[in-house]
Amino acid sequence: ANRLFKEDFGEDIGCHCYEIYKHRDEPCLVCPVAETFKDGRSRQSEEVVTSNSGEHMNVLVQTAPMRGLDGEITAVIEMSTNITLIRQLQDQLASLGLLVGSISHSIKGVLAALDGGMYIVNSGFQKNNPKRIAEGWDIVQRNVRQIRSMALDILYYAKDRELEFASFDARLLAREACSKIEHKAEELGIEIEGPSGGEAVIVEADEGAMRAALINLLENAIDACRIDKRKETHKVSFSVADEGEKVAFIVEDNGVGMDRETREKVGSLFFSSKGQEGTGLGLFISNKIVQQHGGTLDVDSAPNVGTTFSVRIPKRCATPPSERKPMPAEG
Ligand SMILES: Nc1ncnc2c1ncn2[C@@H]1O[C@H](COP(=O)(O)OP(=O)(O)OP(=O)(O)O)[C@@H](O)[C@H]1O
Ligand SMILES: [Mg+2]
Repeated sequence: ANRLFKEDFGEDIGCHCYEIYKHRDEPCLVCPVAETFKDGRSRQSEEVVTSNSGEHMNVLVQTAPMRGLDGEITAVIEMSTNITLIRQLQDQLASLGLLVGSISHSIKGVLAALDGGMYIVNSGFQKNNPKRIAEGWDIVQRNVRQIRSMALDILYYAKDRELEFASFDARLLAREACSKIEHKAEELGIEIEGPSGGEAVIVEADEGAMRAALINLLENAIDACRIDKRKETHKVSFSVADEGEKVAFIVEDNGVGMDRETREKVGSLFFSSKGQEGTGLGLFISNKIVQQHGGTLDVDSAPNVGTTFSVRIPKRCATPPSERKPMPAEG
């Protein structure tokens, strides 16, 4: 054993590798050394082992048979290479890819809202309607502000953002999320039934992250209606229900619906049925945000009938801040 090995695993001589590497009393289920003893062939595998100080390490294990003069296998050499740093680097690259993807996705969402604002400004000019121009300009300004703050957020997100919990009214948030997609729906001739009236439902959650998750669901509902050519009229209903310990946000559409294959793949990273127009990040991010709040995201859908997405989160989050995982950017 070399110096590094001794530092990490001590100097126990005569012990089994499963005792030293895995702190187990029995051999591992699949033992490359035993297999090499059996058939004389070298093996290569990757294992996660635990050092004496409790640190997990990724090691590449290679085995080779040693034969006596008569050709019988008398021993097997096991060599381990510590590849933890390589694996960590790979993980970081993967999350960097995800971060870049989710940022692009957020920007795409804001650009869609900007398009909506510009559409209203244009139609105001065409109809010579200053009120409509002002309304559209207001949307443009708000969304430019959002892109600016998003750019500032990028640095923040890049450093493993933790959820920021604060109390707010879930109904108000839902109405606000609805207002972000109303113009797009209007342009497409889709009716929106937003959460109207009702008593405030106070929740403790990350408002920005929840808003992003809900907007993703609303955008999907609108897309599902837009793509559907079978029905004359389309409608997206968005409601908030106070369920005691939990609050439910329900987005229902009568769009294309999903077949079984889509339902099974929905929410997987980069799964999209929208070709160039979709990145397949929306639901993945929404689901992550909901999970970080200790909530659930359920889907009920029938092809050609429509889809209902239900988000349920506890009104008060039980997870202590230290256990909350970093989350992707707003979308
Ligand atoms: N309300 C819905 N009705 C029908 N299909 C849906 C609905 N919501 C999601 N889907 C399906 O799930 C897929 C993944 O959705 P997701 O939001 O993750 O990605 P996307 O909308 O395709 O792209 P984007 O990353 O721009 O959001 C969609 O492409 C679509 O096939
Ligand atoms: Mg989407």
